Amino acid sequence: MRTLKLGNIGSLVSFNSELSKMITKRDVEVVIENGTIIEIGKKLGDTDYFIDCGNNLVTPGFVDSHTHPVFVNTREKEFEMRISGISYQEIHERGGGILKCTKLLREASEDILISKVKSRMDTFLSFGTTTVECKSGYGLDTGSELKSLMVIDKINKNHEIDMIPTFMGGHDFPSEFQNKKDDYVDLICNNMIPEVTKQGIAKFNDVFCEPGYFNIEQSKKILETGEKYGLLSRMHCDEFSCFGASKLAAELKVNSADHLMEIDKDGIDRLAKENVIGTLLPGTTFFLGKKKYAPYEDLQKQGVEIAIASDYNSGSCNIQSMPFIITLSCIYFKMNILDAIKASTITPSKSLMIDDKVGSIEKGKIADIIVWSIPDVKSIPYSINQSNINLVLKKGKPVITP
Ligand code: NIG
Ligand code: FE
Repeated sequence: MRTLKLGNIGSLVSFNSELSKMITKRDVEVVIENGTIIEIGKKLGDTDYFIDCGNNLVTPGFVDSHTHPVFVNTREKEFEMRISGISYQEIHERGGGILKCTKLLREASEDILISKVKSRMDTFLSFGTTTVECKSGYGLDTGSELKSLMVIDKINKNHEIDMIPTFMGGHDFPSEFQNKKDDYVDLICNNMIPEVTKQGIAKFNDVFCEPGYFNIEQSKKILETGEKYGLLSRMHCDEFSCFGASKLAAELKVNSADHLMEIDKDGIDRLAKENVIGTLLPGTTFFLGKKKYAPYEDLQKQGVEIAIASDYNSGSCNIQSMPFIITLSCIYFKMNILDAIKASTITPSKSLMIDDKVGSIEKGKIADIIVWSIPDVKSIPYSINQSNINLVLKKGKPVITP
C-alpha cells in the first residue's frame, strides 16, 4: 500500500482524545496509508508521496452536522420581504417558507435533483467540509421524501464528500394537510418512516418542533416512532419561541438539539443534565437579520457540549462556508477560536455518532484534513473575504487543490 506524508506543518490543531481537549502540535508530520492516519510525530521516515504544507496550519476537515441541501428553487423574494420587515414566521403564515419549495421538489426528476445537490456538495468540499449531514424535508409526501433521500444516497456513493442522511418529513405540513395536521403526523409514522427504514436510506430523524409547525405531542410521536424503526433523533428546538422543545429533546435524549436561539434556563439545565449536544446555527440568526443569538455562554457554563453548523437551506440560511460560520461564532457568541474548531469538527462528529472515524487528526482516524495557506488558527475568523484553504484531503486523497 502506498504511503503519503504531510510535512513542513507549521501547526497542527486538533482534538486529542487521550487528553480530551484541543491541542496544537508544532513541527510534526502526519503519515497516511490507505486513507487512514497511521502515524503523527517528529521526523518520520520516507514515504511514497510527500506534501509540503509550507509551514502552514493543518486542521481536521469540517463536519457540518445540520444542512437542508435537497431543494430546487432559491427564495430571494423572501429575503427581500424580510428586509422590508416581514418575519420568517409571517412569511410562513402567508403560505411562503418551506412550502415554497415543495411543489418544484415534487415535480423535479431525480436527475435534476442529483445535478443540483451534487454541485452544492462540490461547494461544501471547497470550503473544507469533508462530512455533511443532509436532511430531506421539502417533499412532504412519501414519494418525494423517498426521492430526496435516494438523491442523497446516490450522490454519496459517487462523491468524495461523506453525506449522512436524515429523514425530515416533519419539516412542515404540506398544503393538502393544513386542516388535518394529525393525519399528516400519522402519514409520517405509518407510511414514511416504515418505507424510509425499509430502504435503509436514513440514519437520523429530525422534526421542526416550533409553534406553527410540529407541536410537542406531534414531535414526540414522530421521533419515538423513528426510534422504534431504528432512526436516531435530532430536533429543531427553540428557534423562534421557547415552548418546551428543548425539554422534549432532553426527555428523549436526542443526538442533537439544534438552533436554541430562544432556549430558557430550564431548557439549558435539562440539556446539560441529559448530556444532549446543542448545535448552534449562527448563520441562520445572521441571515434572518435577527439580533438575538443562541445563549452560548450560558449553555457552555452549564456544561452543554456545543457544535456549530451551517443550517444551509434555501430560506433561512444560504450559507455553506464553515469558516464563515466560525467567524459568526467568534463575533456573536464570543467563542474562542479553538472552541470553534472543536465545535465544527469533533463535537458535530460525536452528534452524528462517527467520532470514532472522523473529526480529529489522530492515529487510526480517516485522513480528512485541511491544509491552510495561513500559519495560525487566528486567521480563520479574521479573513472573511478570501478562502485560506490550500488543500483538502478526503480519505487521504487531495480533492481540493490550489
Ligand atoms: O433550520 N427551521 C426549519 N428549517 C430550516 C428552514 C428551512 C427553510 O426555510 O427552508 C431552518 O432554519
Ligand atoms: Fe434547519
